[in-house]
Amino acid sequence: MSNEVEEVKARIDLVDLVSQYVQVKKAGANYKAVCPFHQEKTPSLMVSPTKQIWKCFGCQKGGDVYRFVMEAEHLEFGDALRILAQKAGVTLQPRTAAEHQTQNRKDRLFRINSLASRIFQKVLLDQPQGKAALAYLKKRGLSEETIKRFYLGFASRGISLKDLMIGKGAAAADLSAAGSPERFFERVIFPIYDVLGNVVGFTGRALGDIQPKYLNSPETPIFNKSRVLYGLNLAKKAIVERDQVVLVEGQMDVIALHQGKIENTVASSGTAITETQLLTLSKYTNNFLLAFDNDTAGVNTTKKVIEMLTKFDLNCRVIDFAPYKDAGELFEKDPAAWAKAIKAAKEGFDWWLEREIAANQPTNFIENKKKITKAMLPLLSITFDPTRRDYAVSRLAQALEVKTGSVYASLEKLKPAEVEAAAPAGQIPTHLLPEEQLLALVLGYPTILEMGEKRFKEVVWQSEETEQIASSIETCYNDKALVKNQLQFHSKVKNSLNTLTAEKIDSWQFWLSQTWPNLDDKLAAELFDEKIGLLSSKSREKEKESLAIKIRQAQEKGDIEGLKKLMNKLTNMSKETSSMESND
Ligand code: UTP
Ligand code: MN
Repeated sequence: MSNEVEEVKARIDLVDLVSQYVQVKKAGANYKAVCPFHQEKTPSLMVSPTKQIWKCFGCQKGGDVYRFVMEAEHLEFGDALRILAQKAGVTLQPRTAAEHQTQNRKDRLFRINSLASRIFQKVLLDQPQGKAALAYLKKRGLSEETIKRFYLGFASRGISLKDLMIGKGAAAADLSAAGSPERFFERVIFPIYDVLGNVVGFTGRALGDIQPKYLNSPETPIFNKSRVLYGLNLAKKAIVERDQVVLVEGQMDVIALHQGKIENTVASSGTAITETQLLTLSKYTNNFLLAFDNDTAGVNTTKKVIEMLTKFDLNCRVIDFAPYKDAGELFEKDPAAWAKAIKAAKEGFDWWLEREIAANQPTNFIENKKKITKAMLPLLSITFDPTRRDYAVSRLAQALEVKTGSVYASLEKLKPAEVEAAAPAGQIPTHLLPEEQLLALVLGYPTILEMGEKRFKEVVWQSEETEQIASSIETCYNDKALVKNQLQFHSKVKNSLNTLTAEKIDSWQFWLSQTWPNLDDKLAAELFDEKIGLLSSKSREKEKESLAIKIRQAQEKGDIEGLKKLMNKLTNMSKETSSMESND
């Protein structure tokens, strides 16, 4: 693997690659370009042809060929590698036989689904059996261009998809492993794509009032409903360009909005939206516009998503559709209303507060003030960002005509257990334990172990999980070639962990870049020093000892000022230790 990574890298010229995205001009020994990753007019992206690295001095992004493709195409390392390997004409060897099989199998399932989607579309557009469905879609306002863009199709009872597919060489076993696309009858078919444009599954909508209205493919090795986002393959570019994503409830909403040029729209597929999906989207933007249905289910979804976004410190606004039932209907009936609805979109917290106020009238009665406060406290308790929290507290206080102090007092009174219960289980943590912070740093900047490996090994880990991660780091660190490549290092460590832990350490990297946006090797090394000082119990004990000696000396000398400082330091050290022991 590591050889392939190097080989592909050696065969790709970074200047060439960058010039496929933006115009590149020679500037001394280097090349200059307008950065494709942030808005700018004067070029601040520099490419070094000798070192084959790039760096933008505007947005601070930078790295090698892989990093560039990852940024430009919004890909994980593995996918960037596959793309560049193809460009370079290098055939990647799957690392193990098992992996080889898995990838082969996945490719087979992608091909099955892709073939099925082509047949479905042909039926819709060219066959008599698809006529009614095509008329239905057109009646709902979809243009032929939109139908093709989303690759909509039709599953007719009169046409055996299974026979057609087997006739084209598909194996029956693969068909069933792909979730049996032949299960759909008399339904409009919406292929569901992953971010790279592979068909991972299908949704079928009944033509009339047949239940269920929508039928989805079952979960398969390539279809994970809690991960995939409908429309993301088509929306990702617009999401980045507009620095905003619109979340809606259904496939039809996504399609109607895209047709209305709101191309930064995505939906979950027939399930509640998950933290994983929000995490995926937060790679593209921090700004979420919630446009769920105007009914009880939609309101509940909106609340759940506001909670998750708030906890992750992501921005969220909510659109109100009244009198329409959803974004799709609004676009079908009155496309111009969208702009108005956007203008009137409310800050997530305010939207929620307004609903509670409306439900607990009149607010001059103290019992209603208390009810509203109680309803808003869970959200407040997971609002960790100070600005966000202050804003929310003062809005609530204002609305109830009480002092902000009383809201804070109610928050204080909220028992830890309630806070726990209120906080949905998270993937992007807002607070990492000191030992987790240390691991996150090492994972992001493995070279910092060069000066701290010994101290790292001395750390007494507080949980089985952190111990496992640390031991995996130590093992990977023995492979010196790996250490130089942050990305590879990270993925290698991940490979040796279970899925949950692997996801966790991914989220730590997210936390890392949120906490220190300008993190680089140097700062990472400083932070490492600071954290490890706290953690390696030996050095902590040693520091305490030397502090004790200094305190004694200061006492003897009668150095009051110095004594004060030293005492302070000692208190802080003990505090840090105890906060560590009480698990933050
Ligand atoms: P909706 O019932 O709101 O669909 O379900 P819609 O977008 O308004 O569709 P139209 O306009 O009536 O055609 C929203 C989403 O919930 C999932 C589907 O993903 C759908 O797009 N759903 C709905 C199901 O999975 N099964 C169902 O029976 C209904
Ligand atoms: Mn709907």
